[in-house]
Amino acid sequence: MSIGIGIIGAGGISQAHAKGYQQRPDARIVAVADLFPEKAKEAAARWGAPYAFGDYRELLDLKEVDAVSVCTFNQAHCAPTVAALEAGKHVLVEKPMAPTTAQSWQMVQAASKSGKLLMVEMKWRFMPEILAAKQAIQRGELGRIYYSEAIGWQHRGIPGGTFIQQETAGGGALMDNGVYTLDAVLNLLGHPKPLTVSGTAENAFGHSPDGKWDPARFSVEDFGAAYVRLEGGITLFFAHAWAIDFDEQWQMRVAGQRGSVELRPFDSGPKLRLRRGGYGDLQEVDPGPLPAGSTEVPYAVGQFVEAIVQDRPSPVPAETFLYTNVIFDGLYESSRLGREVSISMPG
Ligand SMILES: NC(=O)c1ccc[n+]([C@@H]2O[C@H](COP(=O)([O-])OP(=O)(O)OC[C@H]3O[C@@H](n4cnc5c(N)ncnc54)[C@H](O)[C@@H]3O)[C@@H](O)[C@H]2O)c1
Repeated sequence: MSIGIGIIGAGGISQAHAKGYQQRPDARIVAVADLFPEKAKEAAARWGAPYAFGDYRELLDLKEVDAVSVCTFNQAHCAPTVAALEAGKHVLVEKPMAPTTAQSWQMVQAASKSGKLLMVEMKWRFMPEILAAKQAIQRGELGRIYYSEAIGWQHRGIPGGTFIQQETAGGGALMDNGVYTLDAVLNLLGHPKPLTVSGTAENAFGHSPDGKWDPARFSVEDFGAAYVRLEGGITLFFAHAWAIDFDEQWQMRVAGQRGSVELRPFDSGPKLRLRRGGYGDLQEVDPGPLPAGSTEVPYAVGQFVEAIVQDRPSPVPAETFLYTNVIFDGLYESSRLGREVSISMPG
């Protein structure tokens, strides 16, 4: 069985998707579409795909296309995803699923109507250290969990291109890189419902003339922080900055009454630390051999292909990204209003 693949959006990340498909004997790239037809043509030639289009709807008309990767900028994730599902194709969509809950909900509903697979390309779902931490939490080793943290401090990480404009990105640092730590912690916690959020999102450096980006085009946040109440009495602190005068630090932490997990994926030291014991006898424990996995995009692409071939459910179910979306929506609203807001899941 060979799965025919269409790639929609031929920018930076599409290269990693193509690599993932090219590593699979059971997949072949058939067509590429990009708003810029020349870009689609070049990519198709590079990947040996027979078809290239300036309009993704033509790609979706092809019978040879069984599944698509949606590699467009965030604001253009929803429309091609819904159209692809309606055309009977499986979809792997880049993170974040979409900038708003309304768009993500539309995508989830389209998937459920079509019966096709909808997977979000969130490579950290396959990070061995996160998988090991999740297993420890599922075994109940932390006791009752009451606190969690999803933080990403980048020192000088403001990007350019389509990432700094609301019309294309739909959000800044929080949505672009914050989604990694936020999704990881919600995943570790087993997706408790978010209830309220009090947050700020602001542009601290975006209009500075010192950067390599165009400050006049900068219309998203480069910093955000939020206090989120989750079901089950769990507190979540979430913060991310593309640029802040701290050392670079990404960390995800979960604390329970009998222990904790701490993940620092970019540290040179141990990336996962497990502690157990409860008050009085806290001790670090060896997490043991890590589960198989990888944080490379081609690996996630391989998981998508395997799920199609083996008729398995989505390895990264789209519904679970509604949790990050309601927090983003609530956080931006809270920042605008200057107070805590209630949030609820769609449906
Ligand atoms: N998983 C990762 O490691 C990772 C890394 C970088 C980016 N991303 C995500 O990938 C997505 C794309 O990022 P990028 O860096 O490739 O951006 P990019 O701006 O380089 O590429 C996006 C491409 O999509 C095309 N496009 C936009 N709307 C389209 C439409 N309606 N039809 C066809 N083509 C369309 C644009 O012309 C552009 O070529 C973003 O959602 C981003 O968050 C993920």
